[in-house]
Amino acid sequence: MEFDTKTPLYQTSDKTSFAYISARDRWPIILTGAIDDLHKAIGKTDDAEKQTEGKSIVSELAKLKYELQHDRQLTPLADDGQGDIESYNKELEQLGNPKWFDVPWLFSECYLYRRMSTLFKLSTHWKNYDVFNKQKMSTFRSSRPAVLELANRYNELSKQLNSKKSSPQSEDEQMAAEKVLFTEMCEICLWGNATDLSLLTNLTYEDIQKLQGSKARKAAEKNIIANDFEATFELLHAAKKAGTKDRRVDIVLDNAGFELFVDVILAGYLLQADLATSVVLHPKNIPWFVSDVVPKDFSDLLTVLVNAKSFYESPSEDDEAKGVTPQKLSEQESSDLSLLFQNWSELYAEGKIVLRPNRFWTEGGSYWRLPGTAGALFEDLKSSELVIFKGDLNYRKLTGDAAWDPTTPFTQAIGPLGPGSGMRTLALRTCKADVVVGLKQGEDERLREMEGGGGDSGARKWAWSGKWAVVQLCDGKK
Ligand code: F6P
Ligand code: MG
Repeated sequence: MEFDTKTPLYQTSDKTSFAYISARDRWPIILTGAIDDLHKAIGKTDDAEKQTEGKSIVSELAKLKYELQHDRQLTPLADDGQGDIESYNKELEQLGNPKWFDVPWLFSECYLYRRMSTLFKLSTHWKNYDVFNKQKMSTFRSSRPAVLELANRYNELSKQLNSKKSSPQSEDEQMAAEKVLFTEMCEICLWGNATDLSLLTNLTYEDIQKLQGSKARKAAEKNIIANDFEATFELLHAAKKAGTKDRRVDIVLDNAGFELFVDVILAGYLLQADLATSVVLHPKNIPWFVSDVVPKDFSDLLTVLVNAKSFYESPSEDDEAKGVTPQKLSEQESSDLSLLFQNWSELYAEGKIVLRPNRFWTEGGSYWRLPGTAGALFEDLKSSELVIFKGDLNYRKLTGDAAWDPTTPFTQAIGPLGPGSGMRTLALRTCKADVVVGLKQGEDERLREMEGGGGDSGARKWAWSGKWAVVQLCDGKK
């Protein structure tokens, strides 16, 4: 594609890459999970036509899994009426109709989810069915301790931020305190990206304290191997000080559940601290990479908050199987969640938090194509003070999922979104793939030498687990 990087891309044929493992081990499991979910849903309907249609989607999913596991060619996508199908199919042709185990990782993984989506979109009864919804909800349920602690913390913070008491501190002291708080909120948001690996879903009271300024949170800072939080704070603070009237921050979302929860926590904090005057959230249009946010996940989150008692106190399927009764919410916990709901629904009703889906996010290419192929979206993002990209896939797309030397500056690896682009980009990413840029000389080697880091196998294993993170800023307005 004309807009893409010329640096070689990660391929599913590369034995040392996470791409190789994803294609052979992870994708068949994901497809099996989708088949199981749909199978159960079919069992719950009495509508014969819906059952028949559901069964035919199940067999299409099984066919897709067979093709994948037998290294067949990727076949052209069926036209489900959306404009992106043509470009997917054109790209397939340009790639020479590749096979599953020898294809650029990024494109083939996007193709996988896009193809799954066509099966539902072309149906009558399952058009809006999300095969990943149950998984997303149950992961969210299991992060209950963290959600409760954060709700409480957020409400306390809101009270402080809205009480507008004059502070006895000097301006410098105040700014330093604000910076600490900003960093803390961003770190919570950053580590929330580890949730799809279940790293942060079962937080205990002590665990959550780790994220809230205690010594242990400081310790986790060591795992942020490139860290531009300070520069980001200074940028937002300067805009606030300059009295710029409209100061929008955008968040290109990643996962639903706990990660979306912490994203909205960050959004609410930025608004109440007056570091932004509006926050635009960008979800996906279709179920994507299992846990990514679709608009319904946002409304589901608000529904959970408003019906917190019934959500948390009625046993899940899993609880029922184990004969477990969930603990009741305390008065304090219930009231924290309902206060949080009030606060967020007010911000939403006032138009300060906005949801703005766009088909571009589920296309098969990288964000190097943004200026060239999605001009209106690019213009919109340029009018934002800061665009935050959450998570691993967004990072892969920003950097083209290419095999850069890890010391390549982030500003260079994002190509057309780099300096002079007019757009400010901040990546908040826990590393779960091969690509990484912007590291100090020798850092990749140091991490490879650590236990499980990959050693001299040629694989960058340390970057697959979500244990390490990068926070990288590019001020494209300069
Ligand atoms: O780890 C495999 C994978 O599917 C990657 O392809 C993708 O980048 C990541 O998981 C999803 O992570 P995230 O939700 O942080 O984008
Ligand atoms: Mg994701």
